[in-house]
Amino acid sequence: MPRIASALVTIALTSLVATGSGCDEQLSDLTGPTPNLTPTLTSIQNDIFSAADASGRVACTGCHTNVGRMPLAGLNLVGGTAHAALVDRSSVAKPGAILVVPGDPDNSYLIQKLEGAAGIVGQRMPRTSGPFLTPGQVAVIRRWIALGARND
Ligand code: HEC
Repeated sequence: MPRIASALVTIALTSLVATGSGCDEQLSDLTGPTPNLTPTLTSIQNDIFSAADASGRVACTGCHTNVGRMPLAGLNLVGGTAHAALVDRSSVAKPGAILVVPGDPDNSYLIQKLEGAAGIVGQRMPRTSGPFLTPGQVAVIRRWIALGARND
């Protein structure tokens, strides 16, 4: 019995160590197809709004651009315009909803649209029936909002 107990402790410790070392890699693992994604608007702009990724997820600016068209939903996510278009701005479709509420990711309609939350008006984004953002990509955008949604 003691031998089994000590074997169990060894297994538990080994998995703890494995989990611990996994932490270092976790952010890039989590953000998957955009391993360099960090919670700044510049990073989110470059990796999400303006760019497709290896998962097949399209760029937001395929539709949300003023280049050669009217941006869909009046939302221009081209670099240099996204902060003003999102932060403290009302949704055009859902009365009372604010696209990005600094410090409050849960109440930011952008997050609800990216997660396909219950109660959104229209479809989950990107409006292509997927691939959608990974949970890790959304977590980084949530973090940017939690940190104050700065124009950084
Ligand atoms: C294929 C075109 C298309 C793509 C790509 C797309 N959108 Fe949209 N988006 C739309 C359309 C059309 C609407 C309005 C209808 C709806 O909400 O379904 C919209 C609405 C939105 C809204 C709500 C605006 C409001 O005022 O209510 C947000 C936020 C949004 N999109 C964010 C994004 C983000 C972020 C991405 C990229 C991850 C993205 N969209 C990709 C077409 C697109």
